[in-house]
Amino acid sequence: MDKFVIRGGRRLSGVVAAQGSKNACLPMMAAALLAEGVTTLRNVPRLADIETMADVLRSLGATAEWEGPHELAIDTTSVERYVAPYDVVRRMRASIAVLGPLLARFRRAEVSLPGGCAFGPRPVDLHIKAVKELGAKVDLRGGYIVAQAPALKGKRVNMTGPAGPSRGATANLMMAAALAEGVTVIENAAREPEVADLVNMLRAMGAQVDGGGSSEITVAGVEHLKPCEYEVMNDQIEAATYLIAGAITGGDVAVEGADAGYLSLFDERLAAAGVTVEAGGDGIRVRGSLPVAPLEIRTAPFPGFPTDLQPQMTALLSLASGRSVIVEGIYPDRFNHAPELGRLGAHVEVTPPTAVVNGVHRLYGAYVMASDLRAGAALVLAGLAAEGETNVRRIYHIDRGYERMEDKLMSLGASVERAQEE
Ligand code: EPZ
Repeated sequence: MDKFVIRGGRRLSGVVAAQGSKNACLPMMAAALLAEGVTTLRNVPRLADIETMADVLRSLGATAEWEGPHELAIDTTSVERYVAPYDVVRRMRASIAVLGPLLARFRRAEVSLPGGCAFGPRPVDLHIKAVKELGAKVDLRGGYIVAQAPALKGKRVNMTGPAGPSRGATANLMMAAALAEGVTVIENAAREPEVADLVNMLRAMGAQVDGGGSSEITVAGVEHLKPCEYEVMNDQIEAATYLIAGAITGGDVAVEGADAGYLSLFDERLAAAGVTVEAGGDGIRVRGSLPVAPLEIRTAPFPGFPTDLQPQMTALLSLASGRSVIVEGIYPDRFNHAPELGRLGAHVEVTPPTAVVNGVHRLYGAYVMASDLRAGAALVLAGLAAEGETNVRRIYHIDRGYERMEDKLMSLGASVERAQEE
């Protein structure tokens, strides 16, 4: 397994470009199953999770080939299987995005229940509810969701979950509804821009979908869809992670492709912490000055503060001039990074769903271990600011969602080396 060896204390400066969005792209890859033929996605990030979804599609009989550094061609002509196997799905929970498309195309789907997750339970009850509402019969057998639908009929479906809307279930419902009979109205749909991007791709395939980005999405089912070419939006979580790298090192970093609309609340919070934030046409630039001011942050579904930026912000606030309070409105247990930040000298006290961060003057390098994608990113950020050497272990978690993180950080002046773990 690989680790990052980081020599901290350097101010980062320069410009990096955002990658394509992992969380927009994954459901789009599943959506390719809705049509027979070759769908080509552009601006696709080179990530482990993308390769995993490609393996899921291949296990169904599709092909997925790189036609360029960030261009992926998915040929679904010879898809005839509808079982997404455990040994692939367990690698990535987002594989469940094939449920809706398989039902829509084959009226059958067998998708392994995803495994657990590093930051608490992540149920799939809303995904099952979504397809049941359209008429699917669903059984849980041997760790698999076994669904069959002689017909899929559109109807009004409320996607309210305990933490608000579900992005994945909204995507599955939309994709199943696209080939159902009649009209489906999704109430309390997820409003994330990644969901709106999927709506735009489905429309490019001939689907009749409206309301992307709003809490009510309407889908008028059609007979069939056609393959398409589509350019994936940029990854705003990755972009914001590099902006925080600029802030936490007191540097001057710009990210091309960062979207001030998507990141408006994030930018407001950074500015409230005393970071200079400039949003321009082609990106966002930050200039950091430490210590940052303490903040109160509550994560929530879009347009609230993204939970996927919570660990990274916790790292930044560990160097604030006072006490910050962070409340997780989505995943109450998403604080695995807290004890690891503690090993670097941070003071983060967690009583789920709340973390209280008492800022310190300095962080000091240590061995720490990534437990999930964004927790790993938080540890890298803290290591960039810490005095001395930080070893971040198990960075395969980071490789799931960040393309060439060490190269991008080194281009900004950081000292980050990928090495074999002892
Ligand atoms: C997406 O996961 C993202 N992943 C996650 O990003 C992100 O953390 C999450 O949304 C929340 O924003 C992808 O898009 C691939 P949800 P998803 O269904 O779709 C509950 C990353 O770091 N829920 O919107 O699985 C759930 O427990 C990853 O890139 C149910 O109760 O999230 C959570 O509290 C990590 N039942 C809330 O809804 C369900 O059936 C939001 O989950 C489904 C979800």
